Amino acid sequence: MNTPVSILAIESSCDDTAAAVLKEGKILANLTANQAIHKAFGGVVPELASRAHMENIWPVVDAALEQAQVSKEELSAIAFTRGPGLIGSLIVGVNFAKGLSLGLDIPMIEVNHMQAHVGAHFIDAPQPEFPFLCLTVSGGHTQLVKVNDFLDMEVIGKSNDDAAGEAFDKSAKLFGLEYPGGPLIDKYAQGGNPLAFTFGKPKVKGLDFSFSGLKTSILYTVQKAQKDQPNFVQDHLADLCASVQHSIVTILLEKLEQAAEETSISHVGIGGGVAANSGLRTRFEALGKEKAWHTYIPKFEYCTDNAGMIAIMGYHKFRAGQFAPTSIEPLARYPL
Ligand code: KG4
Ligand code: ZN
Repeated sequence: MNTPVSILAIESSCDDTAAAVLKEGKILANLTANQAIHKAFGGVVPELASRAHMENIWPVVDAALEQAQVSKEELSAIAFTRGPGLIGSLIVGVNFAKGLSLGLDIPMIEVNHMQAHVGAHFIDAPQPEFPFLCLTVSGGHTQLVKVNDFLDMEVIGKSNDDAAGEAFDKSAKLFGLEYPGGPLIDKYAQGGNPLAFTFGKPKVKGLDFSFSGLKTSILYTVQKAQKDQPNFVQDHLADLCASVQHSIVTILLEKLEQAAEETSISHVGIGGGVAANSGLRTRFEALGKEKAWHTYIPKFEYCTDNAGMIAIMGYHKFRAGQFAPTSIEPLARYPL
């Protein structure tokens, strides 16, 4: 009988230190240490993130192995995020993987973080059939990805400026909400009217996105209203959040619908941190029903940054024999 494939995966591209353990395609542990320190600064401070990764990485890895009941000696390979992300954060994960690979004499597998957000769909059943169309929406990226196979992905649309997550976070900052503001916009939006305010819509050709015009439009709406109503934001917080969320989701879904039509793909999914947004999830499912798509949304813990998605991509690369040399370096920019 073949020995089962066991993979330890590390994710450290931004401000979460995450480790996961996979055995024969199944995730047995998926743990994340969040870095609360950045809240006080209203955004991720790269230097502090790298230091926190250094502190967190061993405890998170040990806890993941313990939870999975897999010993280091049983590991077949170590998968890690090579990029894109903050270079100081990536260096911690990459060097940790190198150390473990040399110490245990097991191969390393490098994973592209944005491919892994798509790969989150391959973790649990039902899994999408190929070709599959994925809208990946995170804090740093907004991409429409045509997925031909586990390791064959093509970006067919992307944001020309801010990512969808940034549009959420920057709007939240304008409303005086804590970083990261996306989840708070989602929370306050529940009690608001999504049509209370209308903001300028981007005019971008093809399958690309733009969110910078929306950001300016929101800013002007608030500044204009505040001239006569100093407490405008506090008094209209729910309506503002609901309207911002509605606008961002509309921009995303219009392009997703266009992409599905142009590619004639009917297996369609959303992924990345913004896929945790309740407005996006509800309207995506409704659109899918209307268009007779097969729709896919990964479990919440596999939408926001996590190492489970790195582990599943590592597993497919292991099976394809795609290993990384020990000289490998992290990449702050790493196109799909
Ligand atoms: O994928 P992710 O965890 O990290 C990156 O790779 O960037 O995405 C983080 C982004 C942040 O901008 C955060 O505000 C947003 O996802 N986000 C949300 C929600 N949960 C996370 N945005 C809107 N609604 C949510 N519920
Ligand atoms: Zn991410």
